[in-house]
Amino acid sequence: MKTPLTILQGNLEVALMKARTVEEYHEVLLNNLQQVERLIALTRPLLTLAKFTSSKPPVNLVPLALEPLIQEIVEELTLLADDHRITLRFESQPVPPTLGDAQWLKQALINLLDNALQYTPGGGFVTVRLQTVGHEVAVAVEDTGHGIEPEHIPHLFERFYRTDWARAKDTAGTGLGLPIVKEIMEAHGGSISVISEVTKGSIFTLRLPALTQHSIPA
Ligand SMILES: Nc1ncnc2c1ncn2[C@@H]1O[C@H](COP(=O)(O)OP(=O)(O)O)[C@@H](O)[C@H]1O
Ligand SMILES: [Mg+2]
Repeated sequence: MKTPLTILQGNLEVALMKARTVEEYHEVLLNNLQQVERLIALTRPLLTLAKFTSSKPPVNLVPLALEPLIQEIVEELTLLADDHRITLRFESQPVPPTLGDAQWLKQALINLLDNALQYTPGGGFVTVRLQTVGHEVAVAVEDTGHGIEPEHIPHLFERFYRTDWARAKDTAGTGLGLPIVKEIMEAHGGSISVISEVTKGSIFTLRLPALTQHSIPA
């Protein structure tokens, strides 16, 4: 947050020091626009955290069918995937309903897909898999990307934690995406887990308790 603001300030101060050519102004404006784009990307997760009440996402749990929700998100992100030259697929099995908050679950899945698209090279695949695992409904986001070294795995859900590789690649990241997902899943009585292999890819799995007849609250 501080870095793009400082760059913006510096650019403007230097530009205003003396008269400039049109080309010079153009260059400054272009660079400032990039800094503003970074700021917007950094602000988004901070606004999400600002909605938390006593450090938890205020979820409103209702019976929810995940299949149409995921379908909608995948459709919304298809253009972004195309931009990254990544094939985004959705493989779905019939699953029981869950108790969930559609808006917050959407946020959780978008954060995972955002990472998968960001950290997978062009030509790769990102697959969302919906299935029942025991008494839980699982949503797995699988990518053919860079993968994550085992020493980083225990830290991924700590606020502001990012690997050096990700820092170098995506300067607009915040290290807040996965901690937000973890909070959202815990507020649902669910979980998030990750399996990853360097150079092969990663699988992030969201799990929610399946809604059965006797789990419907009275
Ligand atoms: N699908 C993925 N493939 C490789 N690395 C990942 C993936 N998802 C997350 N990571 C790693 O976990 C870190 C934390 O992710 P996140 O909390 O979303 O923050 P950000 O994306 O802003 O860096 C990333 O910086 C990256 O190092
Ligand atoms: Mg992220």
